Amino acid sequence: MKRILWTISSTMAALGLGAAALVALNLRGEEPLTTNETVQSTPELVKRGAYLARAGNCMACHTVQGGAPYAGGRGIDTPFGVIHTSNLTPDKATGIGNWSAAEFWRALHNGRSRDGRLLYPAFPYTSYTQVTREDSDAIYAYLQSLPAVAQANRPHALRFPYNTQAALGVWRALFFVPGAPPAESTQTAEYNRGAYLVNGLGHCAACHTPRNALGASSQAQAFSGGLIPVQNWYAPALNAAAEAGVAQWPVADVVALLKTGVAPQGSVTGPMAEVVFRSTQYLSDADAQAIAVYLRALPQQAPAAPAVVKPSAATLARGGKVYEQHCAQCHGDSGEGQPGAFPALAGNRAVVLQDPTNLVRVVLQGGYLPATAGNPRPHGMPPFMQVLGDEDVAAVSTFVRNAWGNQAGAVGTIGVYRARERRGS
Ligand code: HEC
Ligand code: HEC
Ligand code: HEC
Repeated sequence: MKRILWTISSTMAALGLGAAALVALNLRGEEPLTTNETVQSTPELVKRGAYLARAGNCMACHTVQGGAPYAGGRGIDTPFGVIHTSNLTPDKATGIGNWSAAEFWRALHNGRSRDGRLLYPAFPYTSYTQVTREDSDAIYAYLQSLPAVAQANRPHALRFPYNTQAALGVWRALFFVPGAPPAESTQTAEYNRGAYLVNGLGHCAACHTPRNALGASSQAQAFSGGLIPVQNWYAPALNAAAEAGVAQWPVADVVALLKTGVAPQGSVTGPMAEVVFRSTQYLSDADAQAIAVYLRALPQQAPAAPAVVKPSAATLARGGKVYEQHCAQCHGDSGEGQPGAFPALAGNRAVVLQDPTNLVRVVLQGGYLPATAGNPRPHGMPPFMQVLGDEDVAAVSTFVRNAWGNQAGAVGTIGVYRARERRGS
């Protein structure tokens, strides 16, 4: 009896200690809120906040298609369920009308809501934690200047145990440490500005860094490329020339990619087209240039020697036929493309990425380059979902990966079948 009591009480004590440790870990870096702080809103501050909100692409997630801007309600699909974004308009009952600037900053910096609730990292506060208080105040002033929209937040649809604050607390204890703006390095002011934008508001790591089974990305593997869960797009490595690295590009070409979606060496598609369309095209020339300087200086990964599965002659012949019939009119007989209209497929690294996910997605679903001030009426690529069967999609994908000097592994029919099943999610 005594023994049982002892076991129970020591278990309780251990649980209590564990809970206390969890709470402590989740309060790391949090200062007590000062409630009487106000931000003196001025037209200049609101304007700066609007600019920064675009750099952070806040509207993309916090708006449903066709809905009121910033009123929230958009569902973010994760492997753990759907998380709905919040109403950020100044409505007092359903939005952030009653929030103080300090509470707003705590949400960005510590991932905690006004009522103390821990927030899910589908809200990329693991990056925004590096945003300065000054920039947070400007965004706050901007959001408070918007028309208030009364729209209650939708509850999340997460599976157990992911729907509990305890599970989220454990996740945060393991994977989240509130940050400061990246330490000023001995590099130039321009480099430091680029580091701040890429790692903070730009949240480039949210897609371009691999995630573990619990959805966390590791600092050690920063920018080495990641498969965006559920959406199923591969965000290639920003630190590898064979993927999305730009170390060898002239600065002006990186700026062109960020501001127009097109550069002589490549163009953006899928989720990256959205990023350019809603966010990076609005960067000032100075900020776009700072990002370019930082990206060019990223320490480069050693190139991996991919094991290439040699495609069969029959597959190449079949793919070549499909290409001639369905693709050559735009991308050219030799995959040379048409500058300013259709991307070249010959020598295009997006085509020969080791992971063929994006290639298959583009062939099945087509796509548009983003419409930007620098490229206002971009051409589109038609979807081949209804036109080509899985075997033809696999064959033509394999063909473009192995024609005109390109060399990459064959694409299997199974991969196409899976990509088709996941379409739209
Ligand atoms: C990738 C999508 C995404 C982006 C980009 C994003 N958010 Fe969010 N945000 C979310 C999600 C999802 C939630 C809800 C999290 C939760 O309820 O746990 C959220 C919650 C919040 C909250 C907490 C609201 C509340 O009621 O607790 C604030 C504040 C916020 N976001 C501000 C911003 C700002 C400012 C930006 C731009 C700098 C931004 N968000 C960009 C997805 C996003
Ligand atoms: C929502 C996810 C997402 C975010 C956020 C994101 N990217 Fe991307 N990015 C992608 C995907 C997916 C691709 C691959 C498709 C493509 O080539 O456009 C890509 C491609 C790229 C490329 C290669 C383009 C080419 O033609 O070679 C660069 C460079 C790039 N991203 C830079 C950035 C920078 C800088 C940021 C932060 C400001 C960023 N990305 C934020 C998803 C994202
Ligand atoms: C009507 C013209 C047209 C046809 C036909 C066409 N494409 Fe495209 N394709 C485009 C345009 C425009 C883009 C750029 C839009 C984008 O990337 O979303 C593009 C983009 C691509 C990309 C992405 C390149 C990159 O740099 O990210 C690939 C791969 C591709 N096409 C392959 C094909 C294949 C394979 C076929 C035949 C099955 C085909 N295309 C047929 C116009 C076309």
